[in-house]
Amino acid sequence: MSDLIVVENLVKRYKDVVAVNGASFTIKKGEIFALLGPNGAGKTTTIHIIATLLRPTSGRVLVAGFDVVKQAADVRKRIGIVFQDPSLDNQLSAYDNMYVHGRLNGLRGRELHEKIMKLLELVDLKEFAYKKVMYFSGGMRRRLEVARSLLHEPEILILDEPTLGLDPQSRAKIWDYIRYLKKEFDMTILMTTHYMDEAEELAHRIAIMDRGKILAIGTAEELKAMLGQDVIYVTLRKGDDSLCKLFNFAKNCRLLSGNKLELVVDDASKALPEVFKVVNSYKLEVAEASYRRPTLNEVFLHLTGRELRDSLEHQLAPPIARVRRFR
Ligand SMILES: Nc1ncnc2c1ncn2[C@@H]1O[C@H](COP(=O)(O)OP(=O)(O)OP(=O)(O)O)[C@@H](O)[C@H]1O
Ligand SMILES: [Mg+2]
Repeated sequence: MSDLIVVENLVKRYKDVVAVNGASFTIKKGEIFALLGPNGAGKTTTIHIIATLLRPTSGRVLVAGFDVVKQAADVRKRIGIVFQDPSLDNQLSAYDNMYVHGRLNGLRGRELHEKIMKLLELVDLKEFAYKKVMYFSGGMRRRLEVARSLLHEPEILILDEPTLGLDPQSRAKIWDYIRYLKKEFDMTILMTTHYMDEAEELAHRIAIMDRGKILAIGTAEELKAMLGQDVIYVTLRKGDDSLCKLFNFAKNCRLLSGNKLELVVDDASKALPEVFKVVNSYKLEVAEASYRRPTLNEVFLHLTGRELRDSLEHQLAPPIARVRRFR
């Protein structure tokens, strides 16, 4: 697979704020790629540069071989974008929101009408085509924005926080469309999120971003493997500390409350058979056994010393710069 997006040493500076600080990554054709990071990590800035909406301070970004600064028009044709902040006109119907966007992109007449109806159908909004957007739920608005971004048949879809603030059902629906677009059209999708579950659920590869830097890139499994440890829990009918001696292949073993042993191992899939060998040979009675892979939050903690969750929950007032410029 060839690289459709190439980002090399990207830097974006606003006076005294370095929003993106030397980010490099590549995205392959047909890939779903997620930028995962807390508020202010530089995700939106990065994708706005890729979408030609902002100029980089330094570094190079190519989309389908075209330079985002020197060949912006060629890049724009290939990209559809759904912004982090709502960008629909509430006073217009779903159809008219699509129509205006289509006209701005050089579409018209029957072709535009057919495309609008097809895309509204794709996101299950056909029956609401002529209803004003002001009556739409958050999930419906997001779906309409996705449909609108697809009007000019882009090769690449950029989604900035596609499910921010949506209820679980609406999130699941958006996830379904994203998967569908990949499956049906082999679309390349670049998304930003600060939801770990979203990145893990959808993305082939995830770049963990914090304070303008890309800290690690890989599949969710690869990122978790960086920590090199899984945890196995075995609850025995009877138990004491001395049992840990039997599990000497574990990197660490301790007895938790309720006869529950916690074993830290490199790879649970290899260690579990060993656990059951010991259990069988000593005729121990097991009430329950389970294992846990590290979460992406633990990976983030490992990389930054902070929890991804904490760094989101403990945010103070949103920075002034969150007032978006591109409407
Ligand atoms: N126009 C601007 N002027 C000054 N600083 C800005 C501007 N736009 C963004 N910033 C700053 O750059 C940093 C990165 O912002 P960005 O919006 O790219 O982060 P993000 O990862 O998308 O965050 P969020 O999860 O909140 O959307 C932040 O510190 C932000 O305050
Ligand atoms: Mg953002």
